Amino acid sequence: FMLFSGTSNRGLATKIAGELGMNLGKVRIDRFKSGEIYVHYEESVRNADVYLVQSLSQPVNDHLMETLFMVDAARRASARSVTVVLPYFCYARQEKKDAPREPISAKVVADLLHTVGVDRVITLDLHAPAIQGFFHIPVDHLTALDQITEYLTQQAIHNPVVVSPDAGRVKMAEKLASYLDTPFAIMMKRRPVHNEASVTHIIGEVAGRTPIIIEDIIDTGGTIVSVIERLQEKGAHKAWVCATHAVLSGEALKKLNHPGIREVLITDSIPLSLATSLENVRVISIA
Ligand code: R5P
Repeated sequence: FMLFSGTSNRGLATKIAGELGMNLGKVRIDRFKSGEIYVHYEESVRNADVYLVQSLSQPVNDHLMETLFMVDAARRASARSVTVVLPYFCYARQEKKDAPREPISAKVVADLLHTVGVDRVITLDLHAPAIQGFFHIPVDHLTALDQITEYLTQQAIHNPVVVSPDAGRVKMAEKLASYLDTPFAIMMKRRPVHNEASVTHIIGEVAGRTPIIIEDIIDTGGTIVSVIERLQEKGAHKAWVCATHAVLSGEALKKLNHPGIREVLITDSIPLSLATSLENVRVISIA
């Protein structure tokens, strides 16, 4: 098999190649002045099982188009199979209609991948695991929970409680709590407008405990900050924040520099040049 990287997360692709003891294949990916993308495999992929590593992170639409062109080029060059390794799957938070006259954008992304001829998808901590069902091909849905658990068990965390920041993360939180053998608490969140979050309820005991908040995505950081503030009001200690995907848009990094946060644990599913400069941020590799 052959392993290729798109332009979005070459660092992670190189690490994966290292884990496998192989080199990344040669592919040229350029932008024309017009903004259009050019892809050319610089070695034969005929009869090869081709694996493409690409995080569908910002700029999301560019990286998505680039992936589609990489798959199409591999298919037309007679690859035997094409597997896309998508550590971060874009539009996963638009996986259902929350209001009339909205698209189901995650389904559109799945359809596009089908159209160009993907045989298999490998992805990580989908915002909604049911997105697997948008595909008619195998989807390997991996999780970073094992790596997160391993890291946390090496820390001396006093009187911990795993916290789900919203209803969507309850299963993930329950799993982490069982791996760590701790109680867990659930918060309920409302979004009055896009990119704003406010916590409405807490179910479970957090007073005098050290919260371990588990998230799939930190985007603007709004959810984390409102959860931390509510936990502090309820008498919790400084929190550990864990998330698989560090989208970190807007002022997120500033928000994560919060006095109520002990440490932020994220993965390299999305490249993280700026985040690593923060003292309280720890990156674990999912390679
Ligand atoms: C949505 O429900 C997700 O699970 C995350 O809670 C959300 O994407 C985080 O976004 P933000 O950091 O912008 O609050």
